[in-house]
Amino acid sequence: MDTIRSHKVVLLGDSTVGKTCLAHRMKHDCFMHCPDSTIGCEFFAHTVESGGEKVKLLIWDTAGQEVFRSFTPQFLRNAVLVLVVYDMSTPLRFYKIESWVKMVPENAIIIIVPTKSDLPSAENESDSLQGLDPSRQIYFAEPTSAKSGLNVDVLLRKMTDVLGKHFPSENCISNEKYVDIESEEKRLLDCCLLQ
Ligand code: GTP
Repeated sequence: MDTIRSHKVVLLGDSTVGKTCLAHRMKHDCFMHCPDSTIGCEFFAHTVESGGEKVKLLIWDTAGQEVFRSFTPQFLRNAVLVLVVYDMSTPLRFYKIESWVKMVPENAIIIIVPTKSDLPSAENESDSLQGLDPSRQIYFAEPTSAKSGLNVDVLLRKMTDVLGKHFPSENCISNEKYVDIESEEKRLLDCCLLQ
């Protein structure tokens, strides 16, 4: 039977930082101009090539609005990689990156992702985050833009590299099992949104 690596990836971050647009750019390689604010969470699968093999990313785009915050720990269940996204056009002090990092389960890897680099007021302040919780596995992405597409491919490569490093191919799961995981995730999503 074919095997495929599949990994649950969750996008976290304040409302309007650009998580949905970034996820859309990853999957469709185009910019979504006026997305509705995410309600609860949205889920999709995206297959990428890494080192000659296919890797399936089960991407959960969570809502940044405070009102949905109590659901976030449920959406983070089984996540192996979490992207903590922030908007580079707003000073970093306005974001509580540390509190997003604290929400992430201990065994998950984190990539901090600056976005909206196309905006004139965008500033790269990622150096000030280097000391963030040294007990965690935290990586830093290059500045990205869902609008121009800048570095979104670089981010996807970083994601698969980091996943390959921490979860090597010996941990492959069969396609059959993958389908199970995907439907389980969908059930969880329906269940959370109906609460
Ligand atoms: P929630 O769903 O509320 O959590 O927001 P979000 O983080 O998913 O933000 P979303 O992707 O919905 O984007 C919010 C706004 O920022 C939208 O008006 C987007 O068009 C805009 N936006 C997103 N990414 C970019 C970008 O890279 N550059 C620019 N200029 N605008 C962006």
